[in-house]
Amino acid sequence: MARLDPHSHTDVTQPRQRHLSWNAEVDFAGRTVQATATLRFDRGGGAVDLDTRDLEIRSVTGPDGGVLRFELGPPEPILGQRLRVVLPAGVDTAVIRYRTGSEASALQWLEPEQTAGGKAPFLYSQCQAIHARSVVPLQDTPRLRITYDAALSVPAGLRGLMAAGAVDRSVQGDRAVERYRMDEPIPPYLFAFAVGDLASRELGPRSRVWAEPSVVVRAAHEFAGVDGMLTSAEALFGPYSWGRFDLLVLPPSFPYGGMENPRLTFLTPTLLTGDRSLVNVVAHELSHSWTGNLVSNATAEDFWLNEGFTVFAERRILEVLEGPEMVALHAAVGRQALDEAVANFRDRPTLTRLRTQLQGVDPDDAFSQVPYEKGYLFLRALEEAVGRPAFDRFLRRYMEAFRFQSITTEELLELVRTELPGALEAVNAPRWIDGEGVPPGAPVARSSRLEQVEALKAQMPPAGAEGWSPWEWQVYLNQLPRPSPAELMTALDERFHLTGAPNPEVLVAWLTVAIRSGHAPAVQRAEDLLGQVGRMKYLKPLYAALIASPGTRGLAEACARRYRKRYHVIAAAGVEALLRKGP
Ligand code: BES
Ligand code: ZN
Repeated sequence: MARLDPHSHTDVTQPRQRHLSWNAEVDFAGRTVQATATLRFDRGGGAVDLDTRDLEIRSVTGPDGGVLRFELGPPEPILGQRLRVVLPAGVDTAVIRYRTGSEASALQWLEPEQTAGGKAPFLYSQCQAIHARSVVPLQDTPRLRITYDAALSVPAGLRGLMAAGAVDRSVQGDRAVERYRMDEPIPPYLFAFAVGDLASRELGPRSRVWAEPSVVVRAAHEFAGVDGMLTSAEALFGPYSWGRFDLLVLPPSFPYGGMENPRLTFLTPTLLTGDRSLVNVVAHELSHSWTGNLVSNATAEDFWLNEGFTVFAERRILEVLEGPEMVALHAAVGRQALDEAVANFRDRPTLTRLRTQLQGVDPDDAFSQVPYEKGYLFLRALEEAVGRPAFDRFLRRYMEAFRFQSITTEELLELVRTELPGALEAVNAPRWIDGEGVPPGAPVARSSRLEQVEALKAQMPPAGAEGWSPWEWQVYLNQLPRPSPAELMTALDERFHLTGAPNPEVLVAWLTVAIRSGHAPAVQRAEDLLGQVGRMKYLKPLYAALIASPGTRGLAEACARRYRKRYHVIAAAGVEALLRKGP
């Protein structure tokens, strides 16, 4: 038995998945998806080990209806349950009838009250890194790509969307069947769907935005620039390979800022600030269309290949759209987040390497800004070493060479060795790849706007703040000492109304320092916010700030209890982990 991926039961010596036909019925009352997964492999004959989690397997047959032998293993932590199917000689297809469990880790079932409209329920999936197995039994490793077709049955009053090409929708009585197909091979973590009361607005010839009807107009305004973004991205990275680039704005419990599901990026509604100041998240998810969805990490141990390259690409797009000054601010905020992530991992420093070893570690627990921002800095260091024109040529080569493949860090390094001889030595690559923390001499963002803010330290009032973008505010707030003097907090709040900041990034940066400085209004605001949004990027620092002080720890525990049901399973687990860990 030869494992390809520490997070999957997949055995390389066995047949490999090629295509999935998914026939699924969404049952809101029962909070389950009843489905048939027809999996075709590259060959027939012999055992195939699939990944499952909390699936109730009803039957496994061959394409002709003949019963196939199968065995469902015991639940294992992190991995889930192995489903071993025995394919008879000459049979390359298994038909698995099953239904999802009530705790399916990829799914979030929302009550109508948890949506903007308040009338219809909502369901969405979030499969990265290893949650696809709770929705479909398959070889849940990014090493083995699949194409798929799907028929999704939903209540006729709702829309069922998939991150794939739309085929048609047909209504039969009180149900509608929406059919989709994904002809480009994808890693299983990019399998995605959502069901709800959804409307759309056109954004350009290749894009539209979907959201609940009461949100869609704001969403269309926020993301009006997406077509220009797509054009800029293609100029930088080559033709877009996925046909359409549509967006879906989810209800506020969505645990991430964005998720690069192919042809249909999922987004948090916290991006809807009205001023387009957070569209870098869209640039980021769009960039994954090249770095991540075309060239994918082989396993979660190489996750930085997805995210480091994507942050790099995101900031190249941003440079074209908003200029280098803005990029410097973004990079500076990124560096602050990186330093914080490294500090948070002081008891698990191996997780601050770019290439990690995650045998026995849940990818959700290993998640941090390290692969993003340290990965970005490593690529910036390479760019500085060889110059931009050479590095741009290399990027194109990388995307071309590994199209629709899943690669390891070693395969990247080999390509750098041949394409950019001497570059790895010039930046001391092993120190980045397998070393801990941030190497000394890492590239530092420079710009005049950034330097003006950095020079301020805790100056009150901060000179020039009236004209600041949300990004200058973040740089300023993140560098304030914790705790800061109570008078500074009060003065800042009175003058700039930070507890009422409309931009969630600024608000959370403010609340984390204000809570740690004992500023009472911030505690109340945090309590409200924790009940309203489920984005982990906000939950984690807010809970951590409340936990850090004995005066508010009890409140953190109470909020976690009160709001747990509102959070996605993944986010609830993240909050639990923080509470267990303590201050
Ligand atoms: N693919 C990630 C989200 C993700 C990572 C989901 C790991 C599950 C496991 C997505 O592209 C992402 O990085 N989102 C960021 C956006 C930011 C870096 C601009 C986020 O959600 O904050
Ligand atoms: Zn990403």
